[in-house]
Order: sequence, then C-alpha cells, then structure tokens
Amino acid sequence: MSTKQKLYIFDTTLRDGEQSPGASMTRDEKVRIARALERMKVDIIEAGFPIASPGDFEAVRAVASAVRDSTVCGLARALDRDIDRAAEALKSAQRGRIHTFSATSPIHMAKKLKMQPEQVLEQAVHAVKRARQYTDDVEFSAEDAVRSEIDFLCRVFEAAIKAGARTVNVPDTVGYSIPSMWYERVHTLIERVPNADQAIWSTHCHNDLGMAVANSLAAVQAGARQVECTINGLGERAGNASLEEIVMAVRTRRDVFDVETGIDTTQIVPTSRLVSNITGYVVQPNKAIVGANAFAHESGIHQDGVLKHRETYEIMRAEDVGWHANRMVLGKHSGRNAFRARLSELGIEFKREEDLNEAFMRFKELADKKHDIYDEDLQALVTEASLAAAHERVKLVFLKVHSETGETPRAEITLSVDGEERDGQAEGSGPVDATFRAIESIMNSGCNLQLFSVNAITTGTDAQGEVTVRLDKGGRIANGQGADTDILVASAKAYINALNKVSVTAGRTHPQVADHI
Ligand code: KIV
Ligand code: ZN
Repeated sequence: MSTKQKLYIFDTTLRDGEQSPGASMTRDEKVRIARALERMKVDIIEAGFPIASPGDFEAVRAVASAVRDSTVCGLARALDRDIDRAAEALKSAQRGRIHTFSATSPIHMAKKLKMQPEQVLEQAVHAVKRARQYTDDVEFSAEDAVRSEIDFLCRVFEAAIKAGARTVNVPDTVGYSIPSMWYERVHTLIERVPNADQAIWSTHCHNDLGMAVANSLAAVQAGARQVECTINGLGERAGNASLEEIVMAVRTRRDVFDVETGIDTTQIVPTSRLVSNITGYVVQPNKAIVGANAFAHESGIHQDGVLKHRETYEIMRAEDVGWHANRMVLGKHSGRNAFRARLSELGIEFKREEDLNEAFMRFKELADKKHDIYDEDLQALVTEASLAAAHERVKLVFLKVHSETGETPRAEITLSVDGEERDGQAEGSGPVDATFRAIESIMNSGCNLQLFSVNAITTGTDAQGEVTVRLDKGGRIANGQGADTDILVASAKAYINALNKVSVTAGRTHPQVADHI
C-alpha cells in the first residue's frame, strides 16, 4: 500500500481557462470537457462563475447535473448574491463546492476594493459562513496572496478556517513569485496559522514569468495538498499552471514528491486535444507532455539510443499520457455495436437513438473516404453529430472551390438558412478566403475573423483536418469547429459553426472585478 499523501487536482479550465481572451465555450462544450475531466479522475472541476451571466449559470448547472464522480465547484466573490447564485447553480451536484474569494494585498484592497483590511477580513468570514449554509465543502482564496502582507494573510486564513472553510487557497494571481519564495510563503502560512491542520492547503499560480508549474510544485513541497491548474495551461494572460505538467512531474519524480494524484494519465492527451479544439488555443509543438514533439526524437543519436533502450532519452512513456494509447482502429466494415462500444469506452453516450444513428451514418461516410478511423476521428465526428442535433440555423449544403496556379481562387456555396437554401459566391486571396467571403456574401454577418487554425487529427495524407475559427461581433466572441478530410469543407463548417454561436453568446461579468456589498 502506498504511504504517499493524496494531492488533490482542482481543474479550472472551465473558469480561469475560459478567462483567456477568446476562449469562450458554450454550455454543451463545457459539459463535454467536464466529462473528459471526470474520466481523467480530476478531483474537483471548477465549472464557472455563475453570477457572471445567465450562460455561465446554465453551464455550471449543466456540469453539476452531468458529472457524478468529481466534485463540481462554482466561483463566487465574497458577496451574498454571488454565493447564493453559485449555490443555486450547484443544486443538482452529487458533490458541490462553493469557492469564494477576497483580495488581500494592499494594492487590491486600496485601489480595487477601496476597503480597509478589517472590512476585507470581516467580509471573508461572512462569505465563508454564508457558503457553509449551503454546503460543507467551502473553499476560500486570498486573491493576490503573493503581494499580501504575511501577518494579515495569516489572520485572514485563520479566520476563514474558523468560519468553516475546508480548503484554503494561496494564489499567485499575477504570476510574480519564484519557487523558493513560494515555498517559503506556503510553508510559513502552514506553520503560523494556528488552525492550519483543519483545512487542506491549496495553491493557484499564474504563469506571467513562466514559473506557474515550478511555483505550484514548490508549494506542494511546502505542504500544499491541492493544486489548481488547467489543461494546456490555459488561463488569464499567460495562463495557469498546466495540469499535465504538474501531474506528470509528481508521478515521474515520485522520488522527490511525497504525494500522489488519482489522475488517469492516459486521458491527458485526448483531453488536451478536446480543449484545444474547442477553444481554438493551439498547443505549441514543443509543449511538455502534450505538444506534438514532446516524445519525438529528431537527432540520430537520440533515435539510436531510444531504439536500443528507451530510457536512454525518455523519462516518461508516450502511451502513459495517452499518445496512441487509445487508438483503437475502426474501419468501413465495423458495425453499429463496435461503434457504440468504442464510443462508450471513450465516455460518449447518446441520450437518443436518433443521435447515435446520425453519428453512425457520419462514421460510415467517413469510412468510405478514410481507411482507418481512430479515436480522435470519433471525437470529431461526435462534435459534428452534436452540432447537427443542435439544429443550427445555418448549415452547409454545397461547396465548390476553384484554385489554380496563377488564377484567383473562387468559391461557390449553398447554405441552408432557417431551412431555406441560398447561394453565394466570391473570389479571395486564397481558397479559404474565397470560401469565407462566399459565406459572407449570403450572411453579411458583420463578424471579424480573429483566428483560423488547422490541425491534422491523425497522421497520414488521408487524415481529417480539424479547423477552428474565432469570430468577433462587437465584442461577442465565438469559436467554431469543423472536421473533414477536405480541409476547405472543414473550414466552411467551422466558420458556419462560429456564426451559429455568435448570435447566442452574451456579455458577462469578470470575477476579479470589484463589486461592493
Ligand atoms: O488568480 C486568482 O487569484 C484567481 C482567484 C479567483 C482564485 O483566479
Ligand atoms: Zn486565477
């Protein structure tokens, strides 16, 4: 039996991750990511900030209903209305947590909150007590702990624990710390706060100086037993500590860390891909663990060494983090049962038989074009099927693109808009540009294209292209996805998907904006 203590993994991809510019997710996308996180055995999923907007509230509510094994958490400023709204959104959770926070640094208290330290302390205690009326599982964070005075911080944490906080979180909100300093800070807090042993200590580090993971691990060495992190390190500004790096550091260096996580690491790569595809945040190829080159050996000496004995140059196994591990192949002769069984192993279930039929039909169409269908193809296919089931206003009916050396590319397109077929055509500087212009010749949406990214879902020239498009309409942002073996069709689908979403996204409050009681 292991003698190691448990390190709780608190994922905030759906909340702090969504605070990355443009990384907005719909309710259904959040549910899909939450299910993937649950499959990965994440302990706590921070699903959103329910007071922010009706959309955020609905998303937290939907995640709370969909997830059974992980704790689902909602963020709330230390305000009654935030806490009540979070509690309401979490009502159907099997295990729900309210995460409330107050800023404790002199600069935040004076300039943002315009409150005296004693008022902040009082407000924090009141917030924790109010949250405890709804659930025993309450977390308190001292925002900007990195720049807070240590004596005041000790008093706030002591009071929050006394008021009923079961988890206390020490954030480096602005990514200012360095590992030795962060170790010292967390260690001092745990030593000096008299009731420190009555709560789990947590850390939440931002990556402004590229040290979020290093700082989080230093906190673990100082006694923190929860780390707040995100898939692919997504998050506000330079992002948060990356979940995959924390988990694999603790696992690979078990000689150094006295803790272990409960994470199923084989789910890391599929989840990373899902988040990247939904948010449009492409993973850099040399990103640790989940980058396309993370396990690729280019130099002859390295290749030779790895072939002779893998551990000469590899400290982790690619299959342990999900590279190729789940790639069971289906093909054109696979039947419905095999299809359904593989989807179910991937955690994808259809509520209605028609939706399964729709997905199976798309699978057969794809199998005609592509010999081997991998798990990644199935994930993309389900995205497509759920889009179809979502009864989108605008659908692609037909696309023809002419592109030839020395000629201006030209696209002709037919869309179904509210059930009525409409034709458009346009020229462009390239075939993708012509396609988007042809769509706009019909839709006239007034949207600006902010991002266009293409990724091959699997290897080989018959691989499907997975396209993400980000559109902005007067500050409302929507990410659209599309996949197809024809990259222009995938691009058109992604653009149309974003158009369908942009009309339903609404403005929201930022959690770290002060709001008086
Ligand atoms: O960075 C931060 O301080 C936060 C808090 C709300 C925990 O995200
Ligand atoms: Zn944060």
